[in-house]
Amino acid sequence: MLEWISRFPGYDHVLGSIKTIVGNIILTGPVPRHVGLIMDGNRRYAKKEHIELREGHSLGFESMAKILELLYESGVECASVYAFLIENFKRLSYEVEWLMQLAKDKFTQISNQGELAEEYGIKIKILGNVKLLPKDVQDVLHQSEEMTKHNTRAVLNVCIPYTSRDEITHLIQQIVAHENEDDEDEDDFFIDESTISNYLYTNESPPLDLLVRTSGTFRLSDFLLWQCVDPHCAIVFVDKMWPAFTPFDMCKILINWGFNNYWYGHSSGFVRRKQVKDTV
Ligand code: FPP
Ligand code: MG
Repeated sequence: MLEWISRFPGYDHVLGSIKTIVGNIILTGPVPRHVGLIMDGNRRYAKKEHIELREGHSLGFESMAKILELLYESGVECASVYAFLIENFKRLSYEVEWLMQLAKDKFTQISNQGELAEEYGIKIKILGNVKLLPKDVQDVLHQSEEMTKHNTRAVLNVCIPYTSRDEITHLIQQIVAHENEDDEDEDDFFIDESTISNYLYTNESPPLDLLVRTSGTFRLSDFLLWQCVDPHCAIVFVDKMWPAFTPFDMCKILINWGFNNYWYGHSSGFVRRKQVKDTV
């Protein structure tokens, strides 16, 4: 998208209308029920655009809001966003502080005004090892969960701070703890794949149908590993940095997913690399 177009008066309004129309078109075909987003490339984008690193993360949040809007307009029931990896705590302390502040500010706004959550009836769920976060951030996040807990139209899983290995460690601890509580039924102690699925943080979400990662990096970074190996989950790698990833890029991916699902009965069944040309 040429940047000067975005400065035209009324651009956002027109964009919003197009998004609704395109969302409705996508809605007529098969739509993934659950989409995961690895929003990578905020710092590289900031560097390339000669803006402050902090600004890169803020633009990353804006990009996330626009993409989520499109997903929910298109009929997606659940989105899981990778907002903060547990490993991100190893970044320089000022960057960790900015990211924590960003989470606090944005989720305070969401709780106070409820824009996205209210408009789309979204239930916010915080997934991850929340006790690793500063107490004030935990409080804000819990407040946004509390405020939106009765919403039923769609779900936003905010993974913060999250890694799959931590999720799996946590679920094993939970299973063992429940087993120890329930000593009498020792003979019934049996773990299979469905036991694991029931203990995942995503246990209330539909199966993951589509995982999108930006920044041209081909790895999963410990995100939803158990969930994304399902043969019906398509994994799409995009060559753009997250703040440059537009709703139109997401549309192309959704249409492609719908097309594959319509013709082959599933999204792809294999890892597909989709190159979206970076025009920014
Ligand atoms: C990855 O880019 C991005 C993050 C670690 C943070 C993701 C956060 C957002 C997109 C904003 C949403 C925030 C909240 C609070 C929900 P990077 O920093 O790894 O950049 P790089 O890959 O270019 O180094
Ligand atoms: Mg990165």
